[in-house]
Amino acid sequence: MDDFESKVGDALAAPQNQGEMADADAVGTVGSPECGDMMRMWLKFTEKDGKKVIDRASFQAFGCQTAIAVASVATKLLQGKTAEEARHLSAQDLAGDLGTLPPMKIHCGQLVEGALRNALDPTDAPAPKPQNSLIGDIHSAKPQSIRIVPLTD
Ligand code: FES
Repeated sequence: MDDFESKVGDALAAPQNQGEMADADAVGTVGSPECGDMMRMWLKFTEKDGKKVIDRASFQAFGCQTAIAVASVATKLLQGKTAEEARHLSAQDLAGDLGTLPPMKIHCGQLVEGALRNALDPTDAPAPKPQNSLIGDIHSAKPQSIRIVPLTD
C-alpha cells in the first residue's frame, strides 16, 4: 500500500465532520455523472477578528473512499477560512495531508471542491444538462474528464 492509500485508510478509520448540519448557513450538493458519486457539504460561518469565516463544515457522501477521505480532511482545513479563501482552494489543496492525488483520484477531490463551490456560490455552479441521466453518463465516461454538477433535493 502506498503512502496516499495508507493515509486515505487512516482518514476513513475515523472520518471527521460527517453528517447533516441542522444550523448551516450554506449547503452545496454535486454529483459526478461519470462515476455516479454524490457529495453534499454544509458550512456554518462565524465572525472572527472582524471577518466572516467558516466556523464548521460537514459532509455526506455517496462516493468512493477517496472522496470521503478528502471531504473529511477538507472540513477540518476549511475552519477559519473566509469564503474568498475557500473559493481559491483546489481539489489538491482540499486533500491536505493526504498528499498528491493520484491521476485516477483527482476527480474524487474535485467532487469535494464542487460541493464546496456550490455551497459558497450556488448560482455560479454550472447548470445540469437536462438531457443527461446519471446512469447514461456513467456508461459514456471518458477517463480523466469529469463534470461536477449541482443537484437539488
Ligand atoms: Fe467517484 Fe471517487 S470514484 S468520486
